[in-house]
Amino acid sequence: MAGIVMDRNLALEFVRVTEAAAIAASDWIGRGDAHAADGAAVDAMRSRFNDIDFSGVIVIGEGSKDEAPELYTGEKVGKGGKPRLDLAVDPLECTDSVAYGRYNAICVAASGPRGSLFSGPDTYMEKIAVGPRARKAINLDASVAVNLRNIAKALGKKIADITVVVLDRDRHVDLIAQIRRAGARVRLITDGDVAGALATCTPRSGIDVLMGIGGSTEAVLAAVAIKILGGEILCRFKPKDDHHAKLVKKHGLTTKRTYSSEDLAKGKDLTFTATGVIDGPLLTGVRDVDGVTITHSLVIRGQTETMRYITTHHTH
Ligand code: FBP
Repeated sequence: MAGIVMDRNLALEFVRVTEAAAIAASDWIGRGDAHAADGAAVDAMRSRFNDIDFSGVIVIGEGSKDEAPELYTGEKVGKGGKPRLDLAVDPLECTDSVAYGRYNAICVAASGPRGSLFSGPDTYMEKIAVGPRARKAINLDASVAVNLRNIAKALGKKIADITVVVLDRDRHVDLIAQIRRAGARVRLITDGDVAGALATCTPRSGIDVLMGIGGSTEAVLAAVAIKILGGEILCRFKPKDDHHAKLVKKHGLTTKRTYSSEDLAKGKDLTFTATGVIDGPLLTGVRDVDGVTITHSLVIRGQTETMRYITTHHTH
């Protein structure tokens, strides 16, 4: 076998990780216990990562900003050996949607070679994301109206035909008013700006832009997928209070800098894997049919720029 290099498609191995997390979380749909749902996803994700021959280190993980269970930043996973990878993870994106039986919950993991993924605190960032045709039209320093005008031009649409997805939060009241004043439509989501950001790169999603403040881990995860799909996301730290501002500083980072998808996810050897927990625009949720558990996943791989949708029947 000397001289033969196996091109391991780790993205496909990571599907088993997000599948296991989604199945574990799905037991908690509608039971009103967000903490237990998150904990189940975290435990399943950690244990499946530890079954894989690789050395992974979590460089950013969702959890600490909500004081929730998490795979913590700096945690090492995998059986060891090569490849040595950075991981960004959100074991359960949209925890509350699971607890309260809403929609759009997914389990997500992204990987890249050591040093490729942005490492920082789990806090908040302001974001703007678009698909490939408008990738050069966005600027976090420009007004909402100017961004929408430039995006519309790049897409060859009228502003009235532009749809912006925004998290339904009090902090976005002014943003929403500005979008509407500029003439565009707003689609409000209760949770899930990873799926919201990806929708800008998904043909026929009906979403042209994501705007607003959401999680920094979610920003890195979305950046991996958006970069592979040829779109763009620009982000800047937006700590919600002094504690979060200190976290940004403690990591040697600044609220002044705008990060692009290339800053958050370097190079081409990137993977993005997500499995649906509850139905959403991106993925169908976990289904139990006659004793068979069915999962629906999305695998995006930078090397080949492929998007695979995988349906798995788990017969236990
Ligand atoms: P989690 O359920 O994983 O905490 O995140 C859901 C989410 O809606 C993200 O998609 C988004 O980035 C973040 O929460 C926004 O934070 P907040 O709910 O605190 O406004």
